[in-house]
Amino acid sequence: MSNSSSTKKATFKGWTDAGSYFRAMAEFVGFRKEDIAAIRETRFIIEKHIPKIVAKFYDHLLRYPPTRKYFLKIDGSLDRENLQLRMTHLTNFWRRTASGEFDDDYAQFVEYVGRAHTSQGADPKIYIPERYVIGQVGFMQHAISEALSTELHEIDPTYGGSWAKSLEPADDGDPGDAFESLQRRT
Ligand code: HEM
Repeated sequence: MSNSSSTKKATFKGWTDAGSYFRAMAEFVGFRKEDIAAIRETRFIIEKHIPKIVAKFYDHLLRYPPTRKYFLKIDGSLDRENLQLRMTHLTNFWRRTASGEFDDDYAQFVEYVGRAHTSQGADPKIYIPERYVIGQVGFMQHAISEALSTELHEIDPTYGGSWAKSLEPADDGDPGDAFESLQRRT
């Protein structure tokens, strides 16, 4: 047995590959065929909101010192180049997720992204505590349901109640535009 397969086996405690682990976890959290169908159906609605959601995601991380520190240079200034790269990667992650193709390749990608936040990623010095990652998953759930409510409210103004009217319109721009606006605020 090669080193890499024994490492994988040890890490996933019996799971032979990322695909089977992904499917087992999907079953565990109740992620069903109907959910995949709903993601595919709403893909184009969500996609146009992604740049704005990604900008808000990083705006949030940069607002709090314990998460901001991951995006600073040694001199304490914001590492704008790294930040732009992170935003582009996050945009790609959500675009791919919104496409609803949850095959073995996607499962491997999720594993890779998960590892990027631990000392098992490309940079062993990076470890993002789980509470921040889980917190941001909640942030994304909220942002996605807000985006759907906004769109549904446009189709049916009685949907979503008065709070939906106060939401800003979606941003059709690319992540570069979102980064520009984030730079102005930081
Ligand atoms: C919903 C939660 C999150 C998602 C979906 C996500 C997604 C991603 C993606 C797609 C990458 C790119 C991997 C690559 O560049 O190859 C990445 C890297 C990274 N993320 Fe996140 N992220 C999340 C939460 C967070 C949080 C909460 C922080 C910081 C507090 C963070 C900090 C970083 C850092 C520093 C990297 C670079 C790691 C490296 O260079 O090895 N992420 N993330």
